[in-house]
Amino acid sequence: MFKNLISISLLALLTLQCSSKQEPENTKTGEAVGAMPEFDQTTWASRKYSLFIHWGLYSIPGGIWKGKQIEKGYSEQIQAHANIPSDEYAQLATQFNPTGWDPERIVQLAKDAGMQSIVLTAKHHDGFCMFASDQTDFDVVDATPYGQDVVKGLAEACARGGLKFGLYYSLIDWHHPDGSPISPSNSDPISAGLHAYNLAQVRELLSNYGPIDQLWFDMGAPTPEQSNEYRDLVKSLQPECQISSRVWNQDGDFYVMGDNQYPEVSIDAPWQVPASMFDDTWGYRSWQKRGDPVSKAADKLHSLVRVAGSGGVFLLNIGPDGNGSVVPYEVQVLRKIGNWIRQNGLSIFDAQPTSFGVRTWGAVTKSNEPGKLYVTVLENPQDGFISLYGLQNQILRAYPMHDPSNELPVAKQGKNITINVGSVQPDSLNTSVVIVEYSGDLDFFPLRTILPKAETYTMNLKNAKSYKAYVGDKYQSITEVNDRLQWFLQSTKSGNYAVRLSYTNEEVGRGITLRVGDQTFPLSLEKSEPEEIPAPSGIAFGNFLLAEPIYRDASFSTIHGVLYNLAYSRPWGYDGSRTFREVPEWEQGTPYDLQLPDVGSQYVGFSMFSPTDQIMMTTITADDGVAFWVGGEKLLEKFNPAPSKTYLVEVPLEQGNNQMMFKFYNSKGNSEVTIQHDVVAARYHTTAGNVNLQEGKIVPVEIRAGSAQTDLGFVNFKLEIVPVENL
Ligand code: GLC
Repeated sequence: MFKNLISISLLALLTLQCSSKQEPENTKTGEAVGAMPEFDQTTWASRKYSLFIHWGLYSIPGGIWKGKQIEKGYSEQIQAHANIPSDEYAQLATQFNPTGWDPERIVQLAKDAGMQSIVLTAKHHDGFCMFASDQTDFDVVDATPYGQDVVKGLAEACARGGLKFGLYYSLIDWHHPDGSPISPSNSDPISAGLHAYNLAQVRELLSNYGPIDQLWFDMGAPTPEQSNEYRDLVKSLQPECQISSRVWNQDGDFYVMGDNQYPEVSIDAPWQVPASMFDDTWGYRSWQKRGDPVSKAADKLHSLVRVAGSGGVFLLNIGPDGNGSVVPYEVQVLRKIGNWIRQNGLSIFDAQPTSFGVRTWGAVTKSNEPGKLYVTVLENPQDGFISLYGLQNQILRAYPMHDPSNELPVAKQGKNITINVGSVQPDSLNTSVVIVEYSGDLDFFPLRTILPKAETYTMNLKNAKSYKAYVGDKYQSITEVNDRLQWFLQSTKSGNYAVRLSYTNEEVGRGITLRVGDQTFPLSLEKSEPEEIPAPSGIAFGNFLLAEPIYRDASFSTIHGVLYNLAYSRPWGYDGSRTFREVPEWEQGTPYDLQLPDVGSQYVGFSMFSPTDQIMMTTITADDGVAFWVGGEKLLEKFNPAPSKTYLVEVPLEQGNNQMMFKFYNSKGNSEVTIQHDVVAARYHTTAGNVNLQEGKIVPVEIRAGSAQTDLGFVNFKLEIVPVENL
């Protein structure tokens, strides 16, 4: 222990020296160049870049307990991962005297980094409060030699420095007598006693520290009523304060992605990515291998560009040490990004996302100044060309932001515009911003349009653009729900068309709003005269194969290997580390217990032979989550944390072998699954009404769920627009 203390204070000294250099360094000359860009910051979402600070008692051990590196889990949760008895952990408070903590300097660092706000951990899972609370003595004022209200100090410094200020607040509490014991999921119910305590503290936080920009609730599994009470209390005290979705039960104002997780879908509502310098920890970890700050700065900057370019907010974390000093490496990373922002930041902050969104090579935003696009190139394309497919405007000029004299060659071919960026040198963070000037109002031809086949336009889940929301009642059950589908059709013939819907029992009973052009049809999908789909004929099964369970994998967007050509005992997975074993006793239609651990997932697959091309209706019963692919194409992805549910899926079988692949997820408890293929099912058809289409016109078509943030629940849905005379 003594040894630890020495090394901590030595480090603190070093840190102090380093962080006293205030001026950001220019990537080439070492000097700050230019001012931070100015822009309208009125809304929460317009402030795209914030500093997250994880700082508390856990920063003192900094990932080491009794001389041992604690490698399991995040270091801010060392109490759990090193099995530290509560009383012993609480003793850390007597050592908390962070002479290196300087709120002014923290604010300056955030400003140098180009950030607009700071979010500080007011109370983490350990229950220690970084503010003066009347609800407990386990707070920084009562329990530490430091004796100062950290939240107050930083709130005031932010106000003086013109930064917004937000607070992180953990709903679980390992110190509170009514709190649930430490558990691996951190998602335990909130007892009545703890709930009352949390409410009283939220009241303190929103009453004593001036305007709180965001309240970042985290973890626990509150009931819908409890989530509601947190929300109501916050809004009654500070209506402007934005609430994180980790208050659960759809009571937040903005979606928080999973830790270091980036969305792969379009989101209509405000959202945020919490990112740490290293995925393994948020709190200070003294033994973290850090590497090169320049590549880290490039990495985090690229994330910021991608997040902001698709409309999100980036919350980048630092973990000061037990003495309150910011790790020099983190200072360097932030300042390097800040320096980039001084020179190029308008492309992020004075700009809006475009329908180009984010591409593999970078992001395209639209300047608030008319007639200007920012094209931020993060990965220089090998052939030097980037393409802006569908941009209809006349392009006036394209040039690197910092070298307007270098006019870049622009070519238009059909609906595609290409710009040769080959002559543009990426900067030290491997980035370059190109400005594209155009005339008129920005006009895009939709990326994908539906053209008719035999005069009929067919729209389904596969050819739709899906918008998603993330919902859930706790961290492990965060799920993407699909609340909006969108298509564009390009009509090739003027005339009257019927809008027809076709669906199965999977969709029956859903309320939706359908829009075709400017016509709206509110609908409820009811049963009609059924069209019978028979059981498949002549199918034969290959071996039923099972991969090893994967612990703590709750995502269907992560796929661990290719989704075809599975074979018994052949290495599988992107790193070849997984294999499948055969389960001879498996039988279709009979429940099979995967015996998955809680918070675990498992891949299951087999091949199926079909003598002809045919439609097969399959049912899958699982409790917490299932994804299903055939021939590598995803047909189903559902998350339904208990109880068990049966999904009906239409499978287009091809003649020959078809690779069936499933991923089952178990959040808790039972992991029994049933797959059945000899199913007879029905399809229903209804006509919503008629629309008039004009030749050559692009018509947007959209379906929204009856209420926002609710899954449309579509699996086998189809929409057809058919000329009336063909009926
Ligand atoms: C998780 C962790 C917590 C961390 C947070 C940051 O909820 O439990 O330790 O503070 O993520 O996003």
